[in-house]
Amino acid sequence: MQIILAPMDGLTDVYAREILTDIGGYDYCVTEFLRVTDTLFPRRVFYRRFPELRSADNSQHTISHTKAGTPVYLQLLGSDTNAMAENAAKAVQLGAAGIDLNFGCPAKTVNRREGGASLLQYPDRIYQLVRSVRQAVPKEIPVTAKMRLGYEDQLLAHDNALAIQDGGASWVTIHARTKKDGYRPPAYWDALAPIKQLLSISVIANGEIWTVDDYFTCRERSHCDSVMLGRGAMGTFDLALQIKNKLAEPSLPALPTLNWQAVCHHLDKLYQLMILNPALDNKYIAPRIKLWVKWLMPNYHQAETIFSTLKRIKDPQLALQLIRRSADQ
Ligand SMILES: Cc1cc2nc3c(=O)[nH]c(=O)nc-3n(C[C@H](O)[C@H](O)[C@H](O)COP(=O)(O)O)c2cc1C
Repeated sequence: MQIILAPMDGLTDVYAREILTDIGGYDYCVTEFLRVTDTLFPRRVFYRRFPELRSADNSQHTISHTKAGTPVYLQLLGSDTNAMAENAAKAVQLGAAGIDLNFGCPAKTVNRREGGASLLQYPDRIYQLVRSVRQAVPKEIPVTAKMRLGYEDQLLAHDNALAIQDGGASWVTIHARTKKDGYRPPAYWDALAPIKQLLSISVIANGEIWTVDDYFTCRERSHCDSVMLGRGAMGTFDLALQIKNKLAEPSLPALPTLNWQAVCHHLDKLYQLMILNPALDNKYIAPRIKLWVKWLMPNYHQAETIFSTLKRIKDPQLALQLIRRSADQ
């Protein structure tokens, strides 16, 4: 049974990966997607998206792992089989612990260039992509794929999952919605059960797991015990840990979730990590802090209370002061 931190462009950057895996419960995490066109990227492009690859010159952690020791896989998005294979091979030479292929991104700019979810219309192209990346990467390095149930409808879900398996993927994560469904609830967990039965590789369920109870309902309906957590991980920092604790001690009540002071401590850490990076300016740091607080609003009334002031603040240090004051109240 695995719990994976989802790739979320604009959210799960190196700082989110460090903070959330340090809180615990995650078996691995995935970078935000790196869009591949037709060229082989220079090293610096990999390092920008995937700073954990640089850890060789930083003895605090192993290469391609977060500081807490959780492996990080690189996600690639694209449709050019050669370029995808070459970039995957280079990432692995640089030390990537695994490669994940994106067949789920609904963004219009991505789909115009035929990457992400648009490929779900062509199982054969998915097969070719997975196969060429698999062949370019040493056997011991996992090559995984993340798909949605379909593009407009679910008709090709089984064909796409089989294409991923036949291409040689180590396992597949399925976001239980089509591209057309976007991010609108519900997630169609039941649709995963027949796919799981069809495949011999593992299927990881993804979509709409916000609570420990959601995990158990998803498991019952999808028959998948491994899951990937996306937005739920940003609203409940210890969601993975809570699920693992409940699995280890089913008869005990679920752990109480982190209190607001503890959450603020992690937001403080987020600020400290970002401020250490000279490449980040206030225009990056302040909006990022606001985004984190926004995702906490459904679970913490304190987040809602500070957000109306926070959203007008442009100086990250003032944002931090506001968060610290709120932690003390
Ligand atoms: C802001 C945002 C950015 C995302 N970026 C990516 C991405 O880079 N790669 C990817 O495969 N999925 C991406 N996703 C999809 C998530 O990984 C996940 O499949 C989706 O949010 C459903 O899971 P959830 O209901 O647990 O959030 C993104 C989702 C969100 C909300």
